[in-house]
Amino acid sequence: MPKHRQRGRFITLEGGEGAGKTTNMAYIATRLRATGLTVVETREPGGAPLAEAIRGLLLDASNNSMHPDTELLLMFAARSQHLHERVYPAIARGDWVLCDRFTDATYAYQGGGRQLDMQRIAQLEAWVQQEFQPCRTLLFDLPVELGLKRAGERGALDRFEREELAFFERVREVYLQRAKAFPDRFRVLDASEALAAVRARLDRLIDELLDV
Ligand code: TMP
Repeated sequence: MPKHRQRGRFITLEGGEGAGKTTNMAYIATRLRATGLTVVETREPGGAPLAEAIRGLLLDASNNSMHPDTELLLMFAARSQHLHERVYPAIARGDWVLCDRFTDATYAYQGGGRQLDMQRIAQLEAWVQQEFQPCRTLLFDLPVELGLKRAGERGALDRFEREELAFFERVREVYLQRAKAFPDRFRVLDASEALAAVRARLDRLIDELLDV
């Protein structure tokens, strides 16, 4: 969507497994709504019926023969549907959209984790989203082992959560590299801290969002 047609905001939450994005997203939404804003909470892969069906394929641990290129294309297929069906219309209405993961996750997981060519990801990004980018990205960063321990406590592991430690170390590294490369867009939170400390930092970041 061309920049001049954007009235709402698109804010993404990123991080490794068990970083607390989902509960913190609900907290951000509540705080934004308290100021009178209309907030849409969504996620990727998913966020629209067809994209949620693709999510099912991507996370199903029994799909253990999925080629990494297939995985990458399915991520962007789901993204295309989600953007057109849900995100662009919401932003055009002036809503604020909070999205649990977006294209930074593709660079981190498919580029870092699966070690696919970053240029190929950039080509798909340009094709599917043109110039569209999040206004702000909150990166919930924490040591991999701590995150996996938290995620493991939630129950059965999906296709990604079954990956080895080194995969998630590469994911974390790419996220941190991107935060450095795009300092205007990214804000990094230390998700290993106690919830109260994370919330205090989040409060400041929400104030900053409301100011701009
Ligand atoms: P979630 O469990 O945080 O909702 O995310 C689902 C999984 O999908 C998670 O393991 C990360 C992965 N993922 C990618 O590999 N690439 C992507 O582009 C996105 C959005 C998610």
